[in-house]
Amino acid sequence: MCVVTVSSVGQTKTLCKGYLACANVAFCFWIHGVLKTKLPKVGTTIFTTMSALAQQTGALNLSQGFPDFEAPQALREALGRHAMAGNNQYAPMAGLLRLREAVASSVLLHRGVAVDPETEISIVPGATEGIFCCVQALVRPGDEVIMFDPAYDSYEPAVDLAGGRAIRLPLPAPEFQIDWDRFEQALSNKTRLVMINSPHNPCGTNLEPEALQRLAEFAERYDFYVCSDEVYEHLVFDGSHRSVLQVPGLRERSFAHFSFGKTFSVTGWKTGYCIAPADLTAELRKVHQYVAFVAVTPVQHALADFMEAEPNYAFQLADEYRHRRDVFLNALKGSRFTWTPSQGSFFQLLDYSAITDEPDTILCQRWTKEYGVASIPLTPFYETPPKSSYLRFCFAKTDSVLQEAAKRLCAI
Ligand SMILES: Cc1ncc(COP(=O)(O)O)c(C=O)c1O
Repeated sequence: MCVVTVSSVGQTKTLCKGYLACANVAFCFWIHGVLKTKLPKVGTTIFTTMSALAQQTGALNLSQGFPDFEAPQALREALGRHAMAGNNQYAPMAGLLRLREAVASSVLLHRGVAVDPETEISIVPGATEGIFCCVQALVRPGDEVIMFDPAYDSYEPAVDLAGGRAIRLPLPAPEFQIDWDRFEQALSNKTRLVMINSPHNPCGTNLEPEALQRLAEFAERYDFYVCSDEVYEHLVFDGSHRSVLQVPGLRERSFAHFSFGKTFSVTGWKTGYCIAPADLTAELRKVHQYVAFVAVTPVQHALADFMEAEPNYAFQLADEYRHRRDVFLNALKGSRFTWTPSQGSFFQLLDYSAITDEPDTILCQRWTKEYGVASIPLTPFYETPPKSSYLRFCFAKTDSVLQEAAKRLCAI
């Protein structure tokens, strides 16, 4: 059955074959079969659903991963200043050089690694775009991409759109660590890319240095690339973050993705960066220039100002967020939940198996309405969900909100 779609200003009509409504303004049309979506598995994300429910019901929103407190005043003022000073036109495609230089200094300071701001750092409109461009740059039709469940929701659609095949390996609860035997079995000559995330959303786990070492050995043996999502790099509560940039064997074949949004509490600014060797960066930029082309100019200036003035800012974040995690967990003592304290990220998983065996997707909605605390279920992060009894809570919130949320959860 053929359908003709007519679009005119403010008006769209879908008609049967052969009929074309007269539109008295310029219109365009195209003929197609019943639209077959390229992303059949994608619907409204659970983050949108739960944040909307939190808003409707007035619940405390510990679902979506964003801070409920303000970014540093100097950073916000810098944005206003640059917008008013006329820094409002396109930035260079790879990002403002002064911001890339500030990033290079920060990587040297925090990770002890020298990266070239000209050829190895790209400023992108959010880590999500950087990850998308990295996947499009590398993955060819038929290639396989290994990722670990629970996985951040943007990974698989990016692979699908590139014509690749996502192979999703579970991180078994409650440790949520990579099963290396299973990983090795999944590797083949079709493996093009492995996607990792540390600190991990939603589990709050970190990849140990030995795990990265092991990955490097496999990467060399099987010749795959690595997409490393490190957006929570500064939020590690025990020990320190280890980046793929620091691991010989991974450094040469990895794209490392970071988010200014998470580090500087400006998730709504949607600005991040990707670091990769020059040849890989050149490929990433080929895609980036046709996806977004640039990130927002005054935001880049503001971030550069702030990073130049406060080079040590990120050092305090681990303590600050450990405090938030502990406020939440201390106030939950006496509840019927159980947990392993989050090692990193904005997130804490709580196990509710001692309370009920209801499915997590139903339970989180019911508890949002009945107890006024919104969370995120774990099963949407899986391809084949196991029987899960975990909910994810975001503790990037003020102490009073965390205490009140915990008080309500203690009443369950
Ligand atoms: C694991 C992970 N990666 C990437 C992102 C997206 O970062 P950005 O907002 O910079 O696109 C998020 C945001 O929640 C995340 O949790």
